[in-house]
Amino acid sequence: MKKIILTGDRPTGQLHIGHFCGALKNRVALQDKYDTYIMIADVQALTDNFNNPQKVRKNVYEVAMDNLAVGIDPKKSTIFIQSLIPEIAELTIFFSNLVTIARLKRNPTVKEEIQQKKDLFKDDVTFGFLGYPVSQAADIAIFQADLVPVGADQLPMIEQAREIVRKFNHIYGDVLKEPEAKIGDFPRVLGMDGRKMGKSLGNSITFTDSEEEIKNKIKAALTDEIGGKNLLGLFEQFSDDHETIKKFNTQFKNKSIKYSELKPLLADVIIQTLKPIREKRAYYEKNPKIVEKILFDGTKKARQLAKQTLKKVKEKMFIDYFKKTI
Ligand code: TRP
Repeated sequence: MKKIILTGDRPTGQLHIGHFCGALKNRVALQDKYDTYIMIADVQALTDNFNNPQKVRKNVYEVAMDNLAVGIDPKKSTIFIQSLIPEIAELTIFFSNLVTIARLKRNPTVKEEIQQKKDLFKDDVTFGFLGYPVSQAADIAIFQADLVPVGADQLPMIEQAREIVRKFNHIYGDVLKEPEAKIGDFPRVLGMDGRKMGKSLGNSITFTDSEEEIKNKIKAALTDEIGGKNLLGLFEQFSDDHETIKKFNTQFKNKSIKYSELKPLLADVIIQTLKPIREKRAYYEKNPKIVEKILFDGTKKARQLAKQTLKKVKEKMFIDYFKKTI
């Protein structure tokens, strides 16, 4: 039996090269060795987009196409939609008894996100948003995942999921698996403005950007200490020309690096890498029925596994009242 991977994306915008370096490359490489489940986390996306459901709806397809375009193979990986697995919502309720409000408020990722979302939450926060780590723990546990490949910002989420699973097993008996995180090799990609590269910050390079757009974005990228280091890091991610990488690294260290030289080379390797991805994505854009079928079949398969786990959970919790399903 292969080990299980569960990972997910919030459908709030197109994925970009930050996701590519931090999570997607990893995901594609791992799908041969693991039974891979990729969740399109629409329920989680609604926690901070509850007032914009059309945006979430539209991006379910965008995120599915991004995954397929970078090389996720629906024969090897199961792509599915979170809201169609009600077992996750049920497990979330049971898990919510095992977490305190104070612990949720201490989660560094949630803490940072609440700060960033002052416009939405004012000086408070919703029950749903504060509790999304609980729901994410249920995402992972319901599939009995061994491994969760994510960007570095997600580490506190996995840590909290492990705590919840441990507590569940301790109280009700050993039934759930404690997951482990796996971080991509360039986890903190910054946007072209030196801030975190974000789906909704307008500072990213996406898989649908034209060559012209990629060139212009890199041309305009910041080259201060942090921005420059980021460009060099990106070059290392996308280029396999070790000599040139080494040269730029040395120049960076002794501060003689010329970004007018690095930038066109970086634009070039990114364009080369993204070209087949953009072409594959264009195929799915023209064939939404194919994407729909992949999501439908994937969701059906994922739901079977979720049902099995929830059944075991309910037995352990003594809430398995009838043998027959109602
Ligand atoms: N929180 C993740 C993100 O913002 C998305 C996500 C939802 C996820 N459920 C998950 C990631 C389960 C890993 C496992 O990127």
